[in-house]
Amino acid sequence: MGKKLLIFVLHKLFFLLFIVNQSFAFNNYDSSREKPEETPKCSDCHSNLTEKKSKHTPVKENCESCHKVNFKEHTENGSNGLHLAENIPALCYNCHNGLQNDLTTIKNIHQVIKNKNSCINCHNPHSSDEDKLLVLDEKKLCLSCHNKEVASNGKKTANINRILTNAKVIHPPVENGCIACHKPHASDNNYLLIT
Ligand code: HEC
Ligand code: HEC
Ligand code: HEC
Ligand code: HEC
Ligand code: HEC
Ligand code: HEC
Repeated sequence: MGKKLLIFVLHKLFFLLFIVNQSFAFNNYDSSREKPEETPKCSDCHSNLTEKKSKHTPVKENCESCHKVNFKEHTENGSNGLHLAENIPALCYNCHNGLQNDLTTIKNIHQVIKNKNSCINCHNPHSSDEDKLLVLDEKKLCLSCHNKEVASNGKKTANINRILTNAKVIHPPVENGCIACHKPHASDNNYLLIT
């Protein structure tokens, strides 16, 4: 009777030890599998900015070429400014210096480039469904400003949208857009004409 009890107790004890050991082993196994905490990426929270059809090359590489964001502060305290590395257009000229050179040597510059927001009046800095990262379809983009008389430096520029809406006959190339005849940035010719 006493022997049976002893066997019973020992059996339970071994069983208990087995369980405890297993759970330790399991814990060890588990913690050995745990990777060091992954640092989140900018795109984990901002993927909506880059989901359009065509992506600006530097956006595919890293955000820091344009945003000097303090990661820890940003993710702990939330939004705190764009922190652009430079103002626009200087920011863009960092990499598009060919265009910058053009704009210093070409006679007529499209006024809008000198205005507030400069390049991003027409281009999305991240991604776009349109060609050349345009914010709108090219013709709609031009007409979004040229739907009124625009005036600067004592010059008046006609309301092209009204001309097109009222016209009986539209010159066929205009149907296909404006850059068939105009340069979007600058030109040595009057009216930003290509030739
Ligand atoms: C080529 C430069 C450039 C790169 C690279 C870039 N950004 Fe931007 N970003 C800008 C500019 C310029 C603005 C300001 C846009 C405006 O004012 O309309 C901006 C604005 C933003 C904004 C404000 C919201 C918005 O839609 O305007 C967020 C968020 C942002 N960027 C996140 C990112 C992230 C994340 C990346 C990397 C995946 C990135 N940016 C890469 C230039 C850049
Ligand atoms: C854990 C999520 C998270 C991560 C990771 C993250 N952001 Fe943000 N970010 C936010 C939130 C939330 C906002 C505020 C709401 C918004 O504009 O989307 C914001 C806003 C911004 C803005 C706009 C600030 C403003 O004042 O309009 C920029 C620029 C930006 N983030 C850049 C970055 C960059 C660059 C990285 C990577 C270095 C990054 N974010 C990583 C969550 C995040
Ligand atoms: C860190 C470098 C860098 C910066 C800063 C930068 N770009 Fe770019 N951009 C590139 C590269 C690389 C390409 C792709 C190669 C090329 O076409 O020159 C490109 C291409 C483009 C294109 C053509 C896209 C296409 O689909 O053909 C446009 C438009 C553009 N960038 C506008 C801008 C604007 C506007 C800014 C400022 C807000 C800017 N870029 C700032 C590097 C940069
Ligand atoms: C009035 C609208 C407008 C403004 C403002 C503008 N762009 Fe453009 N950009 C365009 C259009 C339209 C194209 C496409 C031209 C084509 O396909 O022939 C273009 C094309 C480009 C390209 C592709 C290469 C090329 O020349 O075709 C780059 C890079 C570019 N722009 C950068 C810039 C930068 C940097 C600024 C600011 C200094 C800027 N753009 C301002 C409308 C604009
Ligand atoms: C964000 C507004 C804006 C957009 C978008 C825009 N423009 Fe302009 N455009 C202007 C302003 C401002 C002027 C200067 C008007 C003036 O000085 O009388 C101008 C002037 C012009 C001129 C007359 C230039 C001259 O020397 O007489 C032409 C041509 C022109 N734009 C064509 C275009 C074309 C083509 C597009 C599309 C690729 C376009 N614009 C998109 C604002 C814009
Ligand atoms: C077939 C070539 C052609 C096409 C396409 C074209 N233009 Fe023009 N545009 C011209 C010529 C030529 C002039 C200058 C002569 C004139 O207006 O009498 C001009 C002048 C302009 C001016 C200056 C008007 C002024 O009062 O100074 C603007 C702005 C303009 N175009 C915008 C546009 C827009 C926006 C589009 C697209 C919807 C467009 N153009 C399409 C040839 C064209």
